[in-house]
Amino acid sequence: MIFLRETDKDFKKGVSNMKPVLILYLSGTGNTEQIACLLQEHLERKGLAAELKDISLEDFDLEYIRYYAGLLFGTYTYDDGDLPFEIEDFYDELGNTDLTGIVIGVFGSGDTAYYSFCQAVDLMKEQFQKTHANVLEHTVKVDLFPDEPSELTDIEKLADDFVAALQPFPVANEERDGEKNLYNE
Ligand SMILES: Cc1cc2nc3c(=O)[nH]c(=O)nc-3n(C[C@H](O)[C@H](O)[C@H](O)COP(=O)(O)O)c2cc1C
Repeated sequence: MIFLRETDKDFKKGVSNMKPVLILYLSGTGNTEQIACLLQEHLERKGLAAELKDISLEDFDLEYIRYYAGLLFGTYTYDDGDLPFEIEDFYDELGNTDLTGIVIGVFGSGDTAYYSFCQAVDLMKEQFQKTHANVLEHTVKVDLFPDEPSELTDIEKLADDFVAALQPFPVANEERDGEKNLYNE
């Protein structure tokens, strides 16, 4: 049974029943990491506990993603619009992984001096779509460090879209008083 969220307070009650979310990123010089931190701040302001993980610091097992309700994945772009080599294996493995039911958003930093600006974001988005996950249409592509107002708005929109896609969510029986039942049972 699914219930509509009517206020942020209701939302915070709901997320306490939910699996956590993960922000997984790769960053060589810190720009993508900055975007990841801003996303984490936005999510936490909305009452979501978001774990932040640097994929280069651990041997990340793809099966681990299933422990989360959603994933925000970030990477920079290298060479001629390529993925950095550190995530090539992760990318390949995604081709054989089913992530049905998991909400996924993609973000990254690049440099507009390159013709293939932030192409790794598009490559990752396409690869995640093959997993049958619920991949968000909106992506974030930042020119180097996230400082332009339009980039900050874009980052906030990704966080908002992500939170919206995680709903509707089940709310425990004793917390339902006064809430609207979607299916009018
Ligand atoms: C050798 C090299 C190749 C790069 N190739 C691209 C590219 O093809 N497209 C792009 O948008 N950015 C490219 N970049 C720029 C980086 O993606 C950019 O500096 C980014 O902000 C790095 O993010 P990070 O700080 O998270 O590592 C390249 C950078 C280097 C050093």
